[in-house]
Amino acid sequence: MKRRSIIPLTLLTLSLLSTPMLSAQEGGKVSSEAGLQPRTAALQQGMADGAVHQLIALPYATNALEPVISERTVKLHHGKHLAGYVSKLNQLLVENKIMERDLVKLVKFASGSVFDNAGQLLNHNLYFTQFKPANMKQIEEPKGALAEAIKRSFGSFEKFRERFEKAGTSIFGSGWLWLAANEHGSLYIDKEPNGGNPVTIGLIPILGIDVWEHAYYLDYENRRAEHLKQIWHIIDWEVVSRRYEERASFFSK
Ligand SMILES: [Fe+2]
Repeated sequence: MKRRSIIPLTLLTLSLLSTPMLSAQEGGKVSSEAGLQPRTAALQQGMADGAVHQLIALPYATNALEPVISERTVKLHHGKHLAGYVSKLNQLLVENKIMERDLVKLVKFASGSVFDNAGQLLNHNLYFTQFKPANMKQIEEPKGALAEAIKRSFGSFEKFRERFEKAGTSIFGSGWLWLAANEHGSLYIDKEPNGGNPVTIGLIPILGIDVWEHAYYLDYENRRAEHLKQIWHIIDWEVVSRRYEERASFFSK
């Protein structure tokens, strides 16, 4: 599949397609004595209230994913790396006077640092909410419509896992491995560099695996393939199946 067929647009275009963006001129009117212009002040008041992007809570204990992912990795990954993306994105939105807050729209239309941090925030929010406490006795399988779509697209769940793991192992450097769907329900394995997300090519993210080293290096060192082989023991297929079934509303949420 052709990747990056939708080129991220500039921040100027983003402002035209979504909510209004404050102009540089308006920002330049700020008086050091009289305070901020009303619209700028409102934007910054939002930041002061912490009403922009927040660090999501984990839907399980920090040690619940062991032995697949250690508590140390979860705490660092969620509490430091993800928290850092939240903080940086909020800072960038203010610095660039971007009024748009919707993460999917930011990832689709922004570029540069805003794209990078919005992408990482969207990616990690999907990542951390698709797991459940480890079941080391067996690898659970999806049911219903997603199970049928996997069989249709890949032949069987086992063949899908094999192709998915192989794709993840082949990503050069930092990136993300995705199972993505189009609106008609066809499934794709999408390899994205850095903070990429399938929304940039018009697909809906269903299952996302972080292959940045911070996601696994403490537990597996350089053995990414081993990490990917173990990841199936923590996938919450109910969450992933819901994403698949509700894909039609993804871009309108
Ligand atoms: Fe990460």
